[in-house]
Amino acid sequence: MQVLLIRSYQLLLKGLARVLPFPRQHRLIGAGSSQTLAAELSRRRWRRPLLVSDRQLMQLQLPAALIRDLEATGLPCSVFDQVLENPTIACVEAGLQCYRRNGCDSLIAVGGGSVMDCAKGIAARVGNPWLPLRWMEGLFRVLAPPPPLACLPTTAGSGSESTIAAVFTDPQRHGKFAIADLKLLPRIMVIDPMLMLGLPPAITAASGMDALTHAVESYIGRNGSAWSRRKALSALRRIHRWLLQAHRHGRDESARLQMALAAHEAGAAFTRTNVGYAHAIAHALGSLYGLPHGLANAIVLPEVLRWSHPCCEQQLAEMARAIELEGSDGSEQGLALAFIAWIEALKQDLGIPATVAELREEHIPQISRCALKEAHPGYPVPRLMTQTDCEALVSRLQDHSDNCFR
Ligand SMILES: [Fe+2]
Repeated sequence: MQVLLIRSYQLLLKGLARVLPFPRQHRLIGAGSSQTLAAELSRRRWRRPLLVSDRQLMQLQLPAALIRDLEATGLPCSVFDQVLENPTIACVEAGLQCYRRNGCDSLIAVGGGSVMDCAKGIAARVGNPWLPLRWMEGLFRVLAPPPPLACLPTTAGSGSESTIAAVFTDPQRHGKFAIADLKLLPRIMVIDPMLMLGLPPAITAASGMDALTHAVESYIGRNGSAWSRRKALSALRRIHRWLLQAHRHGRDESARLQMALAAHEAGAAFTRTNVGYAHAIAHALGSLYGLPHGLANAIVLPEVLRWSHPCCEQQLAEMARAIELEGSDGSEQGLALAFIAWIEALKQDLGIPATVAELREEHIPQISRCALKEAHPGYPVPRLMTQTDCEALVSRLQDHSDNCFR
């Protein structure tokens, strides 16, 4: 009965995603494209933007050129640089105060997924001052339109620049929650590989694996369309070709651009289909142990695929063919297993551990409960899990050996 209810709800979401009027985004893409943003904002009559970023990026002076361009164009901006990894409700509220104090009328996010999500949270609260952020959890609860937002990703992973969702941490309830609404889709997105050249290898690896998880979970989920599958496969091909290159040669502009496009395509795919159990379990691990989102996804993804593969063998085989893998015997099953093995090998090449060193036996029931609460009924996964299934899967992520990776 519960399965029937979950699947019916997902079917409803699938129908809804087909008819939802996703707004068109203005896209600036290519090396140096961020230098054209100020003129574009001036043309659109943005007057006083709040630039949202984090301390590290400000110290690296990554937004400095943009701030200078904005001032030269007659658009003096204020800066909120207090965003932390996994932004909390308090962080969004601090950004809201900064926005009001400075009489801003728009937002520019320069940073990774945490910065872009925080900017979306600030925008949602500016538009809906009477609604607490927590109240907006779920689908389509951002009632009034937020001010316009431009996103300049500095990592190639979250794809937040092309999604309608944002994820926040609620320390009081020890968990993460998401808000999703068409009104949160950034009005302008800028993909400039020059902003990503200095990204350290570990962040390149984790964010690239986040983008891969988006593409894979979108593709194997039951709510995909021909359009979302095309986007997911395109992202997968780029990641297959360019992630290791970007990891090893961080200043390779082509590799950075291709990975940024992959993250954007994977984001555009999953914002229409949703994600799956890898994300649900990764969020639970992230909020308990503070694991970076991409790293947690990378660790969990192969286990989730091994568990799901009886119900998505064909999709896994299609992804294997898309990146020209060969199975052991040419069968669909052989190809599906080859695809999972490729992800394992990629992880190893990127220096990502196979297990979670912090994971403790007594936390497994709680992690599984949180993950299933997040995944059901919204995530259109190919094979549904029970609490027992989930606990068994999470226990396989424990480090039983003495030679920890981390
Ligand atoms: Fe993600």
